[in-house]
Amino acid sequence: MMPAVTRPSPYAYRQVAGRFATGVTVLTVAGPHGCTVSSFTSVSLEPLLVSVCLNVDSSSLRELPDGRRFAVTILAAHQRALARHFADPRRAQGPAQFDGWAWRPGAYSAAPLLAGALGWLECRVVRRIPAGDHVIVLAEVHTVRCGTGAPLVHFDGDLVAGAAVAPPGEG
Ligand SMILES: Cc1cc2nc3c(=O)[nH]c(=O)nc-3n(C[C@H](O)[C@H](O)[C@H](O)COP(=O)(O)O)c2cc1C
Repeated sequence: MMPAVTRPSPYAYRQVAGRFATGVTVLTVAGPHGCTVSSFTSVSLEPLLVSVCLNVDSSSLRELPDGRRFAVTILAAHQRALARHFADPRRAQGPAQFDGWAWRPGAYSAAPLLAGALGWLECRVVRRIPAGDHVIVLAEVHTVRCGTGAPLVHFDGDLVAGAAVAPPGEG
């Protein structure tokens, strides 16, 4: 174990935070707009609530006022290029940012549900909580849909393939 770092710099903090492996999602709104997000978290079962944590400077945050409907696509292991694309600040804006990526609009949100993924949720913003240089966006879940396959994992600053999971109902 390495020595403890007291009053860590953002760099030291990011090193240890990167040890916490997460899944990777693309958050989308009708318009359309999309952005790669790994801070997606399941919050509550009753009522069904999830959260995402967005940088105050992100255009996605401006797209998510209270009451706004949006979708979350949970990425599969083969979707690394998709994750990189929707994280790239130089990508096209508006509909052009989806050129070359297959999607269809969600029935609840009209937001893009990206094809070939592991799962999809459609949600509605219920509260925004300022938290330093980010805002925690709390949302209720309205529709869910499952795919199958292995997950894309964000670990130590890299995007790696996770272990395959059995489809529901299989051991
Ligand atoms: C794997 C990965 C996960 C990310 N997760 C988040 C996140 O949870 N919150 C966030 O604000 N930005 C996150 N980002 C950065 C945004 O995707 C990136 O800044 C994007 O260009 C923001 O787009 P926007 O300004 O259109 O919202 C992540 C980037 C990557 C590569």
